[in-house]
Amino acid sequence: MLHSQSAEIIPSRWYNVVPDLPEPLPPPRSGSEEKSSIELLNSIIPAEMLRQEFTFNRYERIPDEIREQYLQVGRPTPLVRAVNLERVLGFSGKIFYKFEGATVTGSHKINTALPQAFYAAQEGVPEIVTETGAGQWGTATSMAGAINGLRTTVFMVKVSYNQKPGRKTVMGLYDGTVIASPSDKTDFGRRVLREKPDHPGSLGIAISEAVEYAISNGYRYMLGSVMNSVLTHQSVIGQETIAQLEMLGETPDALIGCVGGGSNFGGFVFPFIPGNRETEMIASTALEVPKFSKGEYRYDFIDSAGILPMLRMFSLGSDFVPGKIYAGGLRYHGSAPSLSILIRNGRIKTDEVGEEEVITALKLFARTQGVVAAPESGHAIASALRYVRNPDNAGKTVVINVSGHGYLDLGIFGEKK
Ligand SMILES: Cc1ncc(COP(=O)(O)O)c(C=O)c1O
Repeated sequence: MLHSQSAEIIPSRWYNVVPDLPEPLPPPRSGSEEKSSIELLNSIIPAEMLRQEFTFNRYERIPDEIREQYLQVGRPTPLVRAVNLERVLGFSGKIFYKFEGATVTGSHKINTALPQAFYAAQEGVPEIVTETGAGQWGTATSMAGAINGLRTTVFMVKVSYNQKPGRKTVMGLYDGTVIASPSDKTDFGRRVLREKPDHPGSLGIAISEAVEYAISNGYRYMLGSVMNSVLTHQSVIGQETIAQLEMLGETPDALIGCVGGGSNFGGFVFPFIPGNRETEMIASTALEVPKFSKGEYRYDFIDSAGILPMLRMFSLGSDFVPGKIYAGGLRYHGSAPSLSILIRNGRIKTDEVGEEEVITALKLFARTQGVVAAPESGHAIASALRYVRNPDNAGKTVVINVSGHGYLDLGIFGEKK
């Protein structure tokens, strides 16, 4: 029994889109013949994660302990009608937003960090390990580690480590150990530092370090996005939204969210897919990272070091170096295979928004709704503004997924007017 009056909205099962895809999900592939990166992945992620990664079950029961943890961290998150935004825009329809920024760690990332940490703890390991770029994922992992009785080590890209001291503080509060990457803690990091002592780091290097550290110590490695099991965990977002819209007697015409690796977007829209051809679904990416318009659909590495397996997905190439946009979570070169299939077959549409337009959208959202959204979520808001300003969409009902708050990313406003 969960102790809250809103607890019944928290789903009792996760939704896995795989059986509802128009074609089979291409399996991960090893990059090199002699060293199986799939075997490597199998040895560092919890066995239950591995099972969920390859399951064809449409639903997976959420353990009671995880439902309780979801409640503790702020689920269900609110679905709010943005009446002030509607009024300022003079929009004749309705705009709702699902606010994942209301979780205690400030983003949707906690939805998968909790089950992954829980499964790791069940295997008896003392520690979980991951990498983080902008910091949201490392924050969620540290918190999930803390409440599941595990130590957490986070390899944080050095440039972010130096730029975002607030993130380090929060991870430290959750008892996470944050290491600037490249570091002297791994062979890979030491090699990078030997070649370039002032290397600013990259997500690829941080992943390599985290994986090496997990293997050499027998710890478990946590997956932040892209993998199917992660999107399955994120389905709590969409399932709650369906229940909340039903309570309000609303049917959405459009669902809009942002895409880095695809986890918040997939988790938000996929539960609406079974039996539904009408609702428009729009995946908003950064103009500076045009994976859907300029990327290729092919097998590519998950990480730039090529340590983890390859996935068939839209990708700009695992060696793609994005510009320094604030939305760090959208700088990823690829996108989840399931999402890639649905974009290719036209079920999900895409949109690209540049940083200036995102900043304007974030300011309007703050001034009308009071919400300081994350830079990543600003892309969803900007695409929604485009949608509602299109006269063809007058009178429609739109739901935006606001994946996180932006209180630790205020630099986006400070440096540009
Ligand atoms: C707040 C927020 N939104 C969105 C993203 C993008 O990731 P994903 O596409 O996996 O949801 C991130 C990633 O770091 C994030 O922190």
